[in-house]
Amino acid sequence: MGGGSGRPPGRPLTEAVRLDRGSPWTWSAHPRTTVYGETLRKVKGGEWRRWDPRRSKVASGLLRTTGSPERLLPVPGANVLYLGAGHGTTVSHIHDIVCHGEAPGRVVAVDLSPRCLRDLTRLAHARPGLVPVLGDARRPAAWRAWLPRRASWVFQDVAQAHQASIFTSACERFLEPGGRGLLSLKVESDRGTDAGALRASVEEELAKAGLDVDEVINLEGFEDDHLLFVVEGPDRA
Ligand SMILES: C[S@@+](CC[C@H](N)C(=O)[O-])C[C@H]1O[C@@H](n2cnc3c(N)ncnc32)[C@H](O)[C@@H]1O
Repeated sequence: MGGGSGRPPGRPLTEAVRLDRGSPWTWSAHPRTTVYGETLRKVKGGEWRRWDPRRSKVASGLLRTTGSPERLLPVPGANVLYLGAGHGTTVSHIHDIVCHGEAPGRVVAVDLSPRCLRDLTRLAHARPGLVPVLGDARRPAAWRAWLPRRASWVFQDVAQAHQASIFTSACERFLEPGGRGLLSLKVESDRGTDAGALRASVEEELAKAGLDVDEVINLEGFEDDHLLFVVEGPDRA
């Protein structure tokens, strides 16, 4: 990347995301700082951060999708909901994207672990527009005040039982008409069903909730035992 020209090589996906050397990269909203030890590439006017596809299901989805990768991403200025934020690895790249340039994006990042919240809060101090929330994805009434309007992009990565129904409830409450939803499904977390049957039952549950399943991406090789369901919200108009 880069070489100081300010025009890095590689393929642009959006203004804030490029694919280069087998990885996505995001234009940093907080230059000269790594979040999880990722490689930084300084160029004229700023810096790109390598988005490690082995540490992020959204990044691996960008590399594995058979459709256009950009449709998996929120746009600059978007209001987005992230359930299962962890320590902020993927959240930081989503923040780079929605708060690109002067874009007034907002990432509401929910996790039930106080340890994760400590890291997310530290991250948020340097990243305006990132809103860390200590909360349970299954109990949105407790934290919905942080999301006063619907989100155009909802991502869930909670790795626990009943992932699909948590996701459909979140989309019903929070996803704007025609918005994009991504569900990372850990196949082991819903025990007692084989992977094929689980995939079929989740697809059925998503369809019943009025979500249009656009693609199911197998993340094998990056995140074993994980599927990424890409959906579009119903047009409620
Ligand atoms: C696989 S980690 C998330 C990794 C993160 N998405 C990333 O890419 O950097 C799963 C997270 O989900 C959180 N989690 C599990 N159940 C949850 C729930 N019901 N509500 C909110 N967060 C939950 C866990 O505390 C954990 O941080």
